[in-house]
Amino acid sequence: MNVLVTGGAGYIGSHAVKILIEQGYNVVVIDNLSTGYKDAIDSRAKFYNLDIRDLDKVIDVLKTNKIDSVIHFAAFSLVGESMEKPLKYYENNVYGTKVLLDAMNQANVKKIVFSSTAAVYGDKDISPITEELEETPSNAYGETKLAMEKMMKWADIAYGIKYIALRYFNVAGAYFTGEIGESHNPETHLIPIILQVPLGKRKSISVYGNDYDTPDGTCIRDYIHIEDLISAHILAMKKLEKDNSSNFYNLGSGMGFSVLEMIEAARVVTKHKIPVIISERRLGDPARLIASSLKAEKELGWVKKYTEVKDIIGSAWKFHQLHKDGFNNEN
Ligand code: UFG
Repeated sequence: MNVLVTGGAGYIGSHAVKILIEQGYNVVVIDNLSTGYKDAIDSRAKFYNLDIRDLDKVIDVLKTNKIDSVIHFAAFSLVGESMEKPLKYYENNVYGTKVLLDAMNQANVKKIVFSSTAAVYGDKDISPITEELEETPSNAYGETKLAMEKMMKWADIAYGIKYIALRYFNVAGAYFTGEIGESHNPETHLIPIILQVPLGKRKSISVYGNDYDTPDGTCIRDYIHIEDLISAHILAMKKLEKDNSSNFYNLGSGMGFSVLEMIEAARVVTKHKIPVIISERRLGDPARLIASSLKAEKELGWVKKYTEVKDIIGSAWKFHQLHKDGFNNEN
């Protein structure tokens, strides 16, 4: 089976590429390397340095490689940046998806699995978050992902393109070998930032607020291991093959950990003190985000391998020790 992965050079996309190849799929990657790294793409994949907004070339890639299904990751994903530059997010995420769907329709490729986000729910004082809750994004990033989901709905009705949207909570960790992992520049995510302390790249970690309405006052998040996340994508792709019907699912662990609990777990894993500085709250951070993933478990048959946060942080630590300076795009 031939699978096109857009954004295959990014953190999540590069893990999908590797795991798909390990499972015997033929993988073709489109990535414009704006935030991803060529080094992160498994060398067994066929790589096109291409922007998804280039309609004619995307049609050509789909046809030349006889693509059966698309897994779509190519998007910008920083909440803070999306508030400062919303149009940049509409241009890449919404318009990019429009062009991709147009190309799929013209090339007669009718199945797509894609990354949505917990940010579509906005600030809900409800835990855990189920798929029945209303979507009310509170930032531009979540709004563009919701717009992508809605676009898919109408493309399904009009052109019969079937989709599964996967709403991720906090994706974390790295491939078990440590070959690939989370590497952003600049880095804003909690676990890589915590690990910069034992790596000697920063002296302490700033905790953004300890006056939230949570047991220790710091924000609670649901951390899901990247390999478990990708296994859900493959199950979703198989479900589309079998049932040919569109749907959407939350992907999370169902467990919540506070920022201070994550730091404590990282201390155990790295055997480093990891000093903490309590700072101001970060704009737009909800106090608590915990997923219910029962729908994915029931309907996709999704079973998670990683249930311990120490193992998730441990896999990230392995990657960061092997790639102290991240990836590059040199070759
Ligand atoms: N945090 C700190 N210090 C840091 C970095 C983060 O205290 O240096 C805190 C944040 O305030 C937050 C938690 O750690 O409470 C997790 O922050 P991340 O930036 O790692 O992740 P977010 O929960 O903000 O965002 C994630 C994804 C987004 C997605 C969102 C959905 O990265 O793409 O979940 O809610 F939109």
